[in-house]
Amino acid sequence: MEIVKLVAETKSKISKFIEEGKSIGFVPTMGALHDGHLSLTAESVKKNDITIVSVFVNPTQFNNPNDLKTYPRCIEQDLEKLSKYNPDLIFIPEVEEMYPEPDTRVFDFGHLDNVMEGKNRPGHFNGVAQVVSKLFDIVTPHNAYFGQKDFQQVAVIKQMVKDLKLNVNVVPCPIIREEDGLAMSSRNLLLTEVQRKNASKISETLFKACNLAADLSVNELKAWVVDEINKNPYLSVEYFEIVDDTYLQPINSWEENKVKVGCITVQVGKIRLIDNITF
Ligand code: PAJ
Repeated sequence: MEIVKLVAETKSKISKFIEEGKSIGFVPTMGALHDGHLSLTAESVKKNDITIVSVFVNPTQFNNPNDLKTYPRCIEQDLEKLSKYNPDLIFIPEVEEMYPEPDTRVFDFGHLDNVMEGKNRPGHFNGVAQVVSKLFDIVTPHNAYFGQKDFQQVAVIKQMVKDLKLNVNVVPCPIIREEDGLAMSSRNLLLTEVQRKNASKISETLFKACNLAADLSVNELKAWVVDEINKNPYLSVEYFEIVDDTYLQPINSWEENKVKVGCITVQVGKIRLIDNITF
């Protein structure tokens, strides 16, 4: 497991792998790694000759400066966790290395960026596209692994790959959860003990909603989920939408022949947690 901080060095190592005909798997992360990130790493290691993991807290995707400031950083622990999976290269650039000059590119994802996380975090997906396109350019992966936990991010990255005509296979991977059902997230580290305990109500409600879908209309179910979670004094729903899995258009009836995903964001104190469930 080699640790590299420079773009040029990473590129030269990867071009050697490519010359040798090796397949490259890539797992982009912002660190504070948990079993969700590690499941992507394990999948990449299993399916590719070479696995690259990046750890970079990308400033351009944070629309809230305080969120960027408080984002957990613990690189030593991250490296120790990664070493158990034996990826080949860990790329840990500094901000100046990724952005020697400001990235002024503006991506247009249309509707994909106008709903849910896009609507509530203006500029967020533009920043994600900036950094992921730069990382894809450096790493030139055959396969890139993303978690379904960030369901809208997967849709945006797939669109970006299409728009930029990149030769990257985007591989979505299942959500990994804590024992009580809470979707694993680096932000869970920022919760107080009592907030953490109450946060499990989010996934619990989504699982119940899955069973209730047979008895309630889409709109009734949406209202039920919001009410149920808002009953908890520690939780406040920012949005709950049920959309199709590709265009993120709202689902109006269970009869629609599309994959239906219920996406939620909940404020727990100052912390935003996201989760989703496929109906
Ligand atoms: P980060 O939040 O660190 O997540 C890195 C990857 O891990 C993402 O693909 C995310 O969906 C996945 N992941 C997070 N929690 C997960 C869970 N509980 N189960 C499965 N996968 C999970 O997403 C980002 O970083 C950034 O936006 C990034 C793509 C690295 C660009 O900066």
